[in-house]
Amino acid sequence: VMIMKDLARAAALVVVAGAVLPSAATGQPAPGPVEPGPVRILITYSSRTGHTAALAKAVEEGALRHVGTLVTLKPVAEVSCAELKVADALVVGSPVYWSNMSAEVKAFFDRFTTECGFLPPAFPMRDKVGAAFVTGGEVSSGKEVALLTILAAMLGNRMIVVSEGQALGATATTGDGKAPLAPEALDEGRRLGARVVAVALDLKRGRAVIR
Ligand SMILES: Cc1cc2nc3c(=O)[nH]c(=O)nc-3n(C[C@H](O)[C@H](O)[C@H](O)COP(=O)(O)O)c2cc1C
Repeated sequence: VMIMKDLARAAALVVVAGAVLPSAATGQPAPGPVEPGPVRILITYSSRTGHTAALAKAVEEGALRHVGTLVTLKPVAEVSCAELKVADALVVGSPVYWSNMSAEVKAFFDRFTTECGFLPPAFPMRDKVGAAFVTGGEVSSGKEVALLTILAAMLGNRMIVVSEGQALGATATTGDGKAPLAPEALDEGRRLGARVVAVALDLKRGRAVIR
């Protein structure tokens, strides 16, 4: 009970710190806690035979667990520079091709520079939340390497990367490709989508209070 009371007091102090200081300066009534706008999440993928697209849909379902989230879900080839710029979070999915991201997903990241002009020192993707998901034919044949190549491209853009599902992101094993994704894999995707939005929302709230 004591801990709960302390936590409540600490939370009240945080709100007071954000609200009372401006009013002391202006003489105006203290504003309430700031609610940031909705999180915009861009979920994008490449998929030749539909499995990675199915996992992307599960990521979308997870993101929508947070009411009000604005989701854009589309193949990498259709994403514009403007869509990248306005997103608070970017989740990228790829089939595992020779233990790496697919060439289409690599081309997507290359467009950040060649088409969108995302270069140092500005890094327009800086501090956006990033995460990855992959599908691969075999249980252990490069999924983690493929996830890392996606996360590395995000880190290069100074994004804040997070994971959920497995250690490095959400994954599905597709075998001969004839069966739909396993329920466990779809659940990994949903949990990844939900976590990305939760972190992006926390960051937005923090920035709203600081400003
Ligand atoms: C060119 C190529 C390379 C592949 N390399 C791998 C691999 O290294 N490891 C693996 O587990 N699966 C590999 N696969 C299988 C795909 O990753 C798998 O079928 C995937 O689920 C396909 O996704 P999609 O249905 O979204 O196209 C490869 C498939 C292709 C076509």
